[in-house]
Amino acid sequence: MTERWSAMRSAGDMNGKVALVTGASGGLGRATALQLARAGASLFLVDLAADRLAPVADEARGLGVTAHVHATDLALPGNCADAVAAAHEAFGRLDALCNVAGVMMQAHSHAMAMEDFSRIFAVNVTAPFAMIRAAIPMLLESGGAVVNVASSTGVYPAPYLAAYGSSKAALIHMTRALAAEYMNRAIRFNAVAPGAMMTAMITSQQALPDIHRRRRGRTQHAGARPRRRGGSGGDDRLPRQRCVQGPSRRLHRDRSRHVALMASRA
Ligand SMILES: NC(=O)c1ccc[n+]([C@@H]2O[C@H](COP(=O)([O-])OP(=O)(O)OC[C@H]3O[C@@H](n4cnc5c(N)ncnc54)[C@H](O)[C@@H]3O)[C@@H](O)[C@H]2O)c1
Repeated sequence: MTERWSAMRSAGDMNGKVALVTGASGGLGRATALQLARAGASLFLVDLAADRLAPVADEARGLGVTAHVHATDLALPGNCADAVAAAHEAFGRLDALCNVAGVMMQAHSHAMAMEDFSRIFAVNVTAPFAMIRAAIPMLLESGGAVVNVASSTGVYPAPYLAAYGSSKAALIHMTRALAAEYMNRAIRFNAVAPGAMMTAMITSQQALPDIHRRRRGRTQHAGARPRRRGGSGGDDRLPRQRCVQGPSRRLHRDRSRHVALMASRA
C-alpha cells in the first residue's frame, strides 16, 4: 500500500480537533463520526433522531474521544445556529463541520406535495447554509473545513428525484461558490457526491407505482444515471427508463473516509 493510499484510507490526524457532524444517528453520518473519532477528533453529534444519537456517541467514546449529542430539527434555520453555538460552547472551538443530514423522497413530480418539496430544500440546502453561516467565524479562527454531503443525483439527473436531485445540485453549487468566496482565507469547502449506499434513506423508500424496478436483473435506484430512454410508460406517460446500474456494493463506511479525510487537515 503506498503512502498516499494509506493517507486516503484514514481521516488524518484530528487529535485536539473538534468536528460537528449532522445526520450522525445512522448511515453515512454515523460512519463519518466514527471515522473522525478513530482519527482522534472530539465530536458534536447532531440529528433529529434523539434515541439513535446516544448509542453513536457511546461508540465514539469507546474509541477514546469526547462526544456530545444534540437532538434538533435542522429544517428550522434557528436550530442550526443554536447547534453550532452549542458545539462551540461545549468545546470552545470548531475545526470541522460535516453537513451529512439529508432527506430524500422519491415521487412522481406531478404528485409531489409542495410541503415535501419544501422540506427537502429546508434540510438539504437551507440547513447546510445556516450551519455554515453560523460556523464560518469559528472555522476561520481554527483554519477549519466544511464538508457537504451532496449526491450523484445532483450531478446526473435521476427520475422521480427532481426535488432531491435539484437540492443536491444546489448544495454542490453552494459549496463551489463558498470555496470561491473564501479562497484566500483559512477555511476549506468541499462536497462529496456519493452514489447509492444501502442506508435507511434507500431502504425506507416505498416502491412507487409504475416504476419499473427490475429490468434485466438490474435494479433501478435513487442515484441511477439513465443511459437510455424512450417511449412512454404507463398511464402517466413517464419516460421509460432503461436501467442502469445496481446499488454500489461499497459500504457507506468507505464513503465516510472521504468525508472524514476532507474534514481533516491531512
Ligand atoms: N444513501 C444513499 O444512497 C446516498 C447517496 C448519496 C448521498 N446521500 C446523502 O448522504 C447523506 C446521509 O444519508 P444516509 O444515506 O446516511 O441516510 P440516513 O437516512 O441514514 O441519514 C440521514 C440522517 O439525517 C437525519 N435527518 C434528516 N432530517 C433531519 C432534520 N430535519 N434534522 C436533523 N437531522 C435530520 C436523519 O435522522 C438521519 O439520521 C444525506 O445527505 C444523503 O442525501 C445518500
